[in-house]
Amino acid sequence: MIRLKENTKSMNMLMTFFSATGNTKKIAKVIQKKLHDSNISVTMLDITSYSSRKEEISLSQYDAVVFGFPIYSMRAPRVCREWLETLDGRGMKCSVFFTYGGFGKDPAHYFIKKLLEKQNFKLVSTAEFLGAHTFNRSGWKAVIDRPNQSDFEVAQDYILKTVRRFLGDDLNELGEFEKPLYDVKQFDQAEKYRFGLITKLPTKDSKNCSMCGLCEKLCPTNAMDMKKGIANNRCIACFRCIANCPDGVLHTNDLSGSWDKKLEMHKTTKEKIDNLESKIYL
Ligand SMILES: Cc1cc2nc3c(=O)[nH]c(=O)nc-3n(C[C@H](O)[C@H](O)[C@H](O)COP(=O)(O)O)c2cc1C
Repeated sequence: MIRLKENTKSMNMLMTFFSATGNTKKIAKVIQKKLHDSNISVTMLDITSYSSRKEEISLSQYDAVVFGFPIYSMRAPRVCREWLETLDGRGMKCSVFFTYGGFGKDPAHYFIKKLLEKQNFKLVSTAEFLGAHTFNRSGWKAVIDRPNQSDFEVAQDYILKTVRRFLGDDLNELGEFEKPLYDVKQFDQAEKYRFGLITKLPTKDSKNCSMCGLCEKLCPTNAMDMKKGIANNRCIACFRCIANCPDGVLHTNDLSGSWDKKLEMHKTTKEKIDNLESKIYL
């Protein structure tokens, strides 16, 4: 059990997260509650919407920042990386947690550390939490009921350990992550391949659409056109429109046929994926 010092009350933290279908937000909420119960003030900033990432943020009023991202094609989503590139950390301590669907998470830790260091942040910890894979909505079956209570407990432990690093009560430093076998260009290509070939653009079956406009309003990249009923090529296949459509008329192509191939490619099984545990890196 970690005991926090009395002076934690004066610490002012920012937690900013991107969450298209809610997994990352669930972990962020658990962390927020744990901080609140520990008398640590935290400001929440949801950067999922297009407009929120255009607003200027003043980091100087905070002592430390926690970033929460899903893993997209083995890295933080491109739109989040682009947003991070607009920030100057000025030496500020930070931490990053990811949620992911059970595959290829190691490069995300490596690349986010490099990026944050480039932006003058000092990364003190990272963590990864299992979250039902977004593509389960189109036929995959990865870690269906996650994050669950065991993931939430790791999240609570993660934030207390991270706060100790923020406060300087734990002077150890985060080590290096293993360099991925492939370079950035190859990761960029894999990202394009996924968007281009694996997941087709969300499209609506217009018969039952009530034209509520939520798909257009919520799209993190302004890619959805509610009248045409199809996203354009700014779409990042995050499934936010599909997850939030009250009429259930949006869909992508059926991905169930690629599920077995996905397991084979990663030389794993559904059982192994489902038994993965959330993890903290300090
Ligand atoms: C475009 C895209 C790419 C993804 N790539 C990966 C991946 O490389 N590895 C993985 O385990 N999960 C991957 N996922 C699954 C998400 O990381 C996972 O479902 C995450 O918890 C979603 O977070 P959210 O609900 O907060 O949006 C991907 C999801 C999307 C939409």
